[in-house]
Amino acid sequence: MNAVPQTALLYSSAMLKETLERGRIATDAALERLLPPAAQHPTSIHQAMRHSVFAGGKRLRPILCMESGRIVAGSLSAGIEDLGAALEMLHTYSLIHDDLPALDNDDLRRGRPTCHKVFGEAIAILAGDGLQTQAYEVLARLRCPAEARVRIIEEIAHGTGTVEGMIGGQVVDLEAEHTKPNLKMLEYIHRSKTAALITASVVSGGLYAGAGDEGVAKLRSFGQSIGLAFQIVDDVLDVTQTSEQLGKTAGKDTAAEKTTYPALFGVEESIKKADALVEKSCASLDSFGGRADTLKALAHFLVERKK
Ligand code: IPE
Ligand code: IPE
Ligand code: MG
Ligand code: MG
Ligand code: MG
Repeated sequence: MNAVPQTALLYSSAMLKETLERGRIATDAALERLLPPAAQHPTSIHQAMRHSVFAGGKRLRPILCMESGRIVAGSLSAGIEDLGAALEMLHTYSLIHDDLPALDNDDLRRGRPTCHKVFGEAIAILAGDGLQTQAYEVLARLRCPAEARVRIIEEIAHGTGTVEGMIGGQVVDLEAEHTKPNLKMLEYIHRSKTAALITASVVSGGLYAGAGDEGVAKLRSFGQSIGLAFQIVDDVLDVTQTSEQLGKTAGKDTAAEKTTYPALFGVEESIKKADALVEKSCASLDSFGGRADTLKALAHFLVERKK
């Protein structure tokens, strides 16, 4: 074995662990501060929002956002964790709604019973809505120049919207159940339901830190590739891991005959496609030099993750 890459690998895995841990702590502290307290009237919805948010997600979108800002500014921008928290609120809202009986009908999320199982469907729907409105209140108050703030809000609204955004992807995901998977539809679903919010996370982090058009374009290209790779791996994990390992119900995609990468290509070929996308994503950041090392390590982590 070659000693040089091994050393590089060990260094970056320690660095990566610290980045993930530090990002998670900063995000959780911001979420704690920015979400209404559980005792705030009406308490049922605030308890429901907190139940799902503080159930132990990986916080990957906030971490990607903060690290994208860091490669633009050279250090972590003050207040960027509030942007990360808003992204996590939007992501958690998408999970609460994704698990509803009318969508994927899931009982388990982040190792806990799903929001609707604990609080009932009506409060779960409203908790998702509440996380969405809270996210935009936080975004409107971001401590960055007003022009960047408006661009960030537009980027995130678009990435979670109906035209090639999260909601649009969820619609096609549901309508494609029990149909014969085809690549065009599969790519549309995955790019929209998952890659769009991941791209918005990366791009908004760059905008917060003052990125110009060229920097934004590179980050966008990075986000699109890792976003698609991320959902391919989510599909693979659904068929290769257990519910205990995932903290969510395994094997649901096959049962619902979802349009997934493993359904169309098999597990091995799907992993190859995810790996190729990670290589492509890293190449988009080459001109940032050593500053991009952390984001590149995160890109590799996204496909190597086991949950
Ligand atoms: C799960 O996202 C839903 C998808 C978009 C695939 P994550 O795997 O990031 O879930 P958490 O936030 O860690 O629970
Ligand atoms: C959900 O995709 C993507 C969202 C927008 C929430 P999945 O339905 O595959 O997510 P999991 O596997 O339930 O987390
Ligand atoms: Mg789904
Ligand atoms: Mg689901
Ligand atoms: Mg899934």
